[in-house]
Amino acid sequence: MVCLGNICRSPLAHGILESKLPKDQFYVDSAGTANYHVGDLPDQRSIAVAKANGIDITHQRGRQFKVADFDTFDYIYVMDHSNFENVIKLARNTNDIAKVKLILEVDDTITDKRVPDPYYGGDSGFVNVFELLDTATSIISKDLLKPSSN
Ligand code: 4NP
Repeated sequence: MVCLGNICRSPLAHGILESKLPKDQFYVDSAGTANYHVGDLPDQRSIAVAKANGIDITHQRGRQFKVADFDTFDYIYVMDHSNFENVIKLARNTNDIAKVKLILEVDDTITDKRVPDPYYGGDSGFVNVFELLDTATSIISKDLLKPSSN
C-alpha cells in the first residue's frame, strides 16, 4: 500500500487489509514515495479513525518505497495517480510495472479513482478515506482468498 507520506492513507489501507487476511498466509505492508515521515507514527487522525473501527495501526512506522519492494510484494496498490507515476519511475521492467495498480480500480462503483489526500483537511476527510479503503480492501481480500487465486 503506497501513498506520498506513509502517514495518512497507506497506513489505513495497510491496517484495514491486514485485518481482513489470515496473518500466516499474507504479508501486508505500506510505504510512502517521499521520505518526509520515515520512522514516524501514522497521523493521529488516521490512528483515530482506525481505532474507531476496531483497528490498531500504532505499531506502524513510516518508511519510503524502495526498488526491492518490487521483489518482496506480488501486488503494489497506490492511492493516486501521482503515487502511481512515482512508483512506476522506479520500475526496472514490465514485471515490476504490472504489479502496480490504483487501489480504487478494484471498485467498479467508483468513477474517481483517487483516494484523496486528507493531510491538509479535517477529520471528515479521514472518515471518507477509511470508507473508500474499507470497500476496496474487502474486494481485494475476497479475491485473494478465492481458492483459484493461489
Ligand atoms: P499521505 O498524506 O500521503 O496519505 O500519507 C500526506 C502526509 C504528509 C504529507 C503529504 C501527504 N506531507 O507533505 O508531509
